[in-house]
Amino acid sequence: MENELAALSNELATAVEQAGRTVVAVNARPRFASSGVLWRPGIVVTAEHAIRRREEIGITLPDGRRTTATLAGRDAGDIVAAMEAFRNGQKPATVMDRIAKGFTAEEVQAIAAWYAAQR
Ligand code: HEM
Repeated sequence: MENELAALSNELATAVEQAGRTVVAVNARPRFASSGVLWRPGIVVTAEHAIRRREEIGITLPDGRRTTATLAGRDAGDIVAAMEAFRNGQKPATVMDRIAKGFTAEEVQAIAAWYAAQR
């Protein structure tokens, strides 16, 4: 049992160390940085809510070096989901609940596809 726990602990430590090498900090919103994953060289994937501005997106690499990134696109499915959540009141909003209600499902799909394609 002790040996199994030690082995598990070692495996976890190795997994954390390996994952840590691909985790970056993304600075694209006020106050807080977010985490991103270095998906492949030159590409960082992060959550939709981590990106609040299109310009001056800062990246802090695992070794502490800093660089910048440009937005390569947003996930169409996330935009559709956000619009649906605004529409049905699940996502808190000041104006987007009313705006989302003004579009048909097809229009939301088209808008999301357009945003997702922006480079
Ligand atoms: C085609 C038109 C629009 C689309 C597809 C759209 C989409 C979105 C999405 C996806 C979010 C969520 C962002 C996130 O949580 O990461 C958002 C938030 C927001 N948008 Fe829009 N938006 C549109 C038009 C507008 C307009 C015209 C205004 C202002 C007049 C506006 C004001 C806001 C505000 C204030 C928020 C924060 C939530 C709130 O307080 O309602 N949006 N929008």
